[in-house]
Amino acid sequence: MSEKIKGFSKLSKLGKIEWIANKHFSNPTKAIDVLEQYWNEDEKLQKLHDEFSENTISNFYMPFGIAPNFLINGKMYAVPMAIEESSVVAASAKSASFWLERGGFKSEVLSMKKVGHVHFIYNGEEEKLMNFFAKNKTKFFEDTEDITKNMRVRGGGILDLRIKNKSSIEDGYYQLEANFDTRDSMGANFINSCLEVFAQTLEREIAIDSSFSQSEKDIQIVMSILSNYTPECVVRSEVSCTVEELVDGSGITAEEFTTKFSRAVHIAEKEPYRATTHNKGIMNGVDAVVIATGNDFRAVEAAAHTYAAKDGSYGSLSHVEVKDGIFRFWIELPLALGTVGGLTALHPLVKLAYDLLGNPDAEELMMIAATVGLAQNFGALRSLTTTGIQKGHMKMHLLNILNQLDASDNEKRYFVEFFKNKTATHSNVVNEFYKYRGLPIPKDSDIKENGAK
Ligand code: MEV
Repeated sequence: MSEKIKGFSKLSKLGKIEWIANKHFSNPTKAIDVLEQYWNEDEKLQKLHDEFSENTISNFYMPFGIAPNFLINGKMYAVPMAIEESSVVAASAKSASFWLERGGFKSEVLSMKKVGHVHFIYNGEEEKLMNFFAKNKTKFFEDTEDITKNMRVRGGGILDLRIKNKSSIEDGYYQLEANFDTRDSMGANFINSCLEVFAQTLEREIAIDSSFSQSEKDIQIVMSILSNYTPECVVRSEVSCTVEELVDGSGITAEEFTTKFSRAVHIAEKEPYRATTHNKGIMNGVDAVVIATGNDFRAVEAAAHTYAAKDGSYGSLSHVEVKDGIFRFWIELPLALGTVGGLTALHPLVKLAYDLLGNPDAEELMMIAATVGLAQNFGALRSLTTTGIQKGHMKMHLLNILNQLDASDNEKRYFVEFFKNKTATHSNVVNEFYKYRGLPIPKDSDIKENGAK
């Protein structure tokens, strides 16, 4: 059980580690060894990582893989993907190769607007507030000129402002809603800084406006914050080919595959249980690119799922159409990504990811991430509607168990062959492994899911 500590953040890194190790582990030396094992020898690089966040004591590695052969709008990409889940990079790469032979992916950014709100309470006549806003709108732009100067030089800035009556949600609740063009940055700090100034302008100008009564002047700013829901920062990616071209070598005909695949998408369009898993598969691809390029995957996830429910019920982010012998499969989702600011210039591996992608701007990165999501979804549905996904997964599962057992490369090769046509449950693998090494087979109770005792 953890005990309360005051001032943990003020301890040095070693102080934090000692406290954690001594208070939480029966073998503190071993715990410290594990934490130190992940430190980088390059002290400068380690310090850089330590300072990305707070109370850092070690690094948490994530595999950084490559899915090559993505042809998007006629340009080839080898896409960096940071993800711990097995089979995702392989499925993306397989879909990329499949579509490379069939003309590749077409992608376009439909819109790039970001949005934020000052949420406030005003207990007065709506018309007075609207008139006040029309009269004072320019002051909101003027008061943020310092903050928006650089963004305006780059062609972005505040696009428009409006007041929205939201009192059906909460008595007196209004929003000052603003749209922004943040160019190649994700723009969270820029947007939030503007919104906080808007809140001050609103309070100040209402307080000196004689059309309001004293009680009407008494507005309450509840909060000022960007919205991670960006239904106007949307990208679309698509693949298409003739139905005959959909032969995939798994034994079923192109027509049968097309019918089953389309049904799988139609089910996900309407059925929330399936839609959630379907979209999770899409986000396997999207998030992996988002993380490798130093973007905020939580923001991307939140927006994607809200978008998936925009028509009133939760459904698939991807869609299919088969018409006149042509199969079309596409995805549309919001992706508020940045290619400047944040981690993009700081994290050496993120910088490498950008170099690898040819240093795309935000729009190009949106197209790449959406395309990987579509490829991932195609790969998952192709497996699910033909061979099932366990075949591929089980091989990785087997390798994970063998790694836990400290198997040598030779042993791994042997067991991959051994389990080719057998079920590789955890206990089966452990038993066979012990047998192979000539060791007594452990009792079931001695076998933990995380490896043999
Ligand atoms: C697993 O991470 C993702 C899948 O479940 C996606 C899907 O079912 O479409 C394979």
